[in-house]
Amino acid sequence: MSTDQAPVDPTKPDLEESTNVAQAHEEVTRSAAAASREQQLRENGLEPVSIWIMIAGFIVAVVGGSVLLSSENLFDYETFTKDGYVRGEFETGGSTIPTALAGDAYLKRGAALYKNCASCHGTGGAGVAGVYPPLAGSEWVTGSGKVPALVMIHGVSGPISVKGNDYNGAMPPMADGWSDFDIAALTYYLQNNFGNNVGEIFSAEQIAEIRTISKDYGKKPFSSADLETHLSAEFTAKPLTPETLLNIKTGEVVDADQ
Ligand code: HEC
Repeated sequence: MSTDQAPVDPTKPDLEESTNVAQAHEEVTRSAAAASREQQLRENGLEPVSIWIMIAGFIVAVVGGSVLLSSENLFDYETFTKDGYVRGEFETGGSTIPTALAGDAYLKRGAALYKNCASCHGTGGAGVAGVYPPLAGSEWVTGSGKVPALVMIHGVSGPISVKGNDYNGAMPPMADGWSDFDIAALTYYLQNNFGNNVGEIFSAEQIAEIRTISKDYGKKPFSSADLETHLSAEFTAKPLTPETLLNIKTGEVVDADQ
């Protein structure tokens, strides 16, 4: 077999061919560099944003921000609550205190404590004719708040006239171990329930006055004559105002501005 091509001598490389290779290599390198300078392909969502969208976003932020800042009471408590709404929870020092207006807190607590009285005086405070006197419309309840409070603490025994009917029984002391809040709340409940409408919201200072009378009086149960000396007694201490906010668990006054 014969061929036109000269046999390749590895010791003498074809010069022309190696020049071509070098040129081709350079071309490839240049075009790759050029391509990498061109706009890069990004993944979905990472494409560059149009300048117009950015301008529109900026305008929205400025206008929206100035509207929010110019409306003074946008986040004000009052604008978010209906009239007459009672704030249930109140934050102080990281702990949450359940609060209510004094009258509401007293009625709730008083209703719970009245369970101790209902077995004799009836759930509606009407009493049992001839045996247990009524609390509804009773002059002993609707007079000074000192009287029902003293009755709870000491009990009553002996003859007593209530709403024109005579009774002669004995009621034991009921408030042993009760807090000022308990006595104040049940007194308020009696005076503002069963159709009674006295309204005074007893403060801890007023209960302290009652406790003083009670201490001076000793251990005996009150007679109706003893109670009568307090029937129109005024308190020296002031009652709470209806706007007072109380801790519904302890009855302590909560300072809303704290
Ligand atoms: C075991 C029955 C009994 C229980 C319980 C009882 N009472 Fe009485 N209560 C009486 C009796 C009996 C009298 C009348 C005593 C008398 O005749 O001297 C009376 C009298 C009264 C009076 C004065 C008269 C009147 O009707 O206004 C008040 C106020 C009163 N109780 C409040 C209470 C309250 C508040 C409680 C609950 C903390 C309570 N009682 C629990 C039996 C009871």
